[in-house]
Formats: sequence, C-alpha cells, structure tokens
Amino acid sequence: MKIAITGKGGVGKTTFSSMLSRMFADDGYRVVAVDADPDANLGLALGFPKEVYDSIVPISEMKKLVSERTAAETGTFNKMFKLNPKVDDIPKNYCKEYNGVRLLTLGTVDSGGSGCVCPEHVLLKRLCSHLILQNKDVVVMDMEAGIEHLGRGTAQGVDAFIVVVEPGERSLQTYRKVKSLGKDIGVKQVFVVGNKIRNKEDKEFIMSNLEDGEALGFIYYNQDVIDSDRSNKSPYDTSQETREQIEAIKNKLMGLSVSCN
Ligand SMILES: Nc1ncnc2c1ncn2[C@@H]1O[C@H](COP(=O)(O)OP(=O)(O)O)[C@@H](O)[C@H]1O
Ligand SMILES: [Mg+2]
Repeated sequence: MKIAITGKGGVGKTTFSSMLSRMFADDGYRVVAVDADPDANLGLALGFPKEVYDSIVPISEMKKLVSERTAAETGTFNKMFKLNPKVDDIPKNYCKEYNGVRLLTLGTVDSGGSGCVCPEHVLLKRLCSHLILQNKDVVVMDMEAGIEHLGRGTAQGVDAFIVVVEPGERSLQTYRKVKSLGKDIGVKQVFVVGNKIRNKEDKEFIMSNLEDGEALGFIYYNQDVIDSDRSNKSPYDTSQETREQIEAIKNKLMGLSVSCN
C-alpha cells in the first residue's frame, strides 16, 4: 500500500499521516513514513522524543551522501552527474524508528526554478520512485501541495492519492490544483479526506465540491488533537475518537485496494 497525502498548509496532512502510519504499524505492517513537506514536522506528530527528532538530518542536506551517490557536488546545477543514483539502501540506513514507524525526512531542494536538474533533486526523485515502486513496506508520504518529487511512473504506482481538505474554499481550491497537477502526471483518481469537521453543514459543503466516489471519509474537529500538538505528543496516543475516524478511513482504503487488485 502506497499512500500520498497532500493538501493546503494547515489542513491536517501531518496529523493524518502520522496517525495512519502508526495505525498500520500497530496492525503489524512495516511502515515507512516519508516526510516530503519542506515544512517538515512529521516526526513530532509521530511522537518521536525531542532528542531523536532534533538529530534528524534531511536527506537533501546530507551533502556527502548526495555527492557520493550522484557523483556530483551538491549545489551545482545542470552539470554532469549520475541520473540513476543508488538509493535502495537509504530507507534501511537513514530512517529513524519510533513506535514501529520508520521515518524518512527528505528535506527541501532549492530547484532554482522549474526544469532545473540538480543532484539533490535527482536523488530525492529516485528515492521516491524506489519507495513507491520497489519497496515492499507500507509507505505513507506526507507531502506539500506540490507533487513534483513524483515523476509520472512513480505517481502511477501510488495506490491512493489523498488530498486533505477542511470546510473552506481555500483548501478546496488546493484540492482542485492537486487534481489537475495529478492528471498531468497520470494520476487517475484522487481521494479526499475532510478534516476539522464540526457539523453536518461542514460535511455537506465539502461533499458538494467533490465528484462521486472521491470522499474517503471525514475527521471531526477535536480539541484532543490540538492539545496533543501543544504538548508535543502523538495525536495517535491522545485522541481516541479521531483514531476511530481514521480507522474507518483506513478500512475503506484497504477495501478499495483489494477491489482494484
Ligand atoms: N481534526 C482536528 N481537530 C482539531 N485540530 C486539528 C485537527 N487536525 C489537525 N489539527 C490541528 O491543525 C494544525 C495543523 O495540522 P497539521 O497536521 O500540522 O497540518 P498540515 O500538515 O496540513 O500543515 C495543528 O495544530 C493540528 O493539531
Ligand atoms: Mg505538515
């Protein structure tokens, strides 16, 4: 199962990604949670102790690794370097594990404008492709709304592209943007999870903006989730109700993937 989670900043991507990852881990799956958002904080939501979290170095900042694998200096643009660097050992050697979830933090790439090819970008793209197409574990990717780490082939290997939205026009606009970006790289279907729902109207508002079959489920606004963020705990450990709502979403996902295969 390969799951990519996107959406506007602040909608709850990291909260959802962390809880889903921990749930799969508790079910006995081997899970790699990928932090692919430049605003990386998935480790905190996964409940990593601060000293472990603080010790995380994103892959894109591992200069020695990047130059070793691509045979190029980091920070160089459009020079000669390997376009298919070795990455298959990276998940095993560079993940941090806690609560049964292995976390891989990708980091940001200053791409110097679109169309640019730099060693860091090539390595991350290749790594994402490996995680989605070759790695046997459950992979949950916490992404920003941009989905440029995923090339066409990789995107087609994703079992579920999930856009998290909240009951507001701005996050729905991001959903439409992701959908159109997704189409460009061959994504057939995106799913939507509505988060921070307070009432029936919130749900209906979101539903009225979606196409049939797109809604995977809803997560209610929950003070426990906010409190867990404030006290640096994993919402998975503190928010039973939210956990149940996410469980229902996970079960629906699993059902969909069975019926597709
Ligand atoms: N269902 C929810 N109920 C209440 N607060 C939530 C819920 N989901 C997320 N939040 C809060 O919203 C904020 C943004 O969530 P986060 O997961 O970091 O979003 P993103 O990763 O999309 O930027 C956090 O403070 C988080 O605790
Ligand atoms: Mg986030």
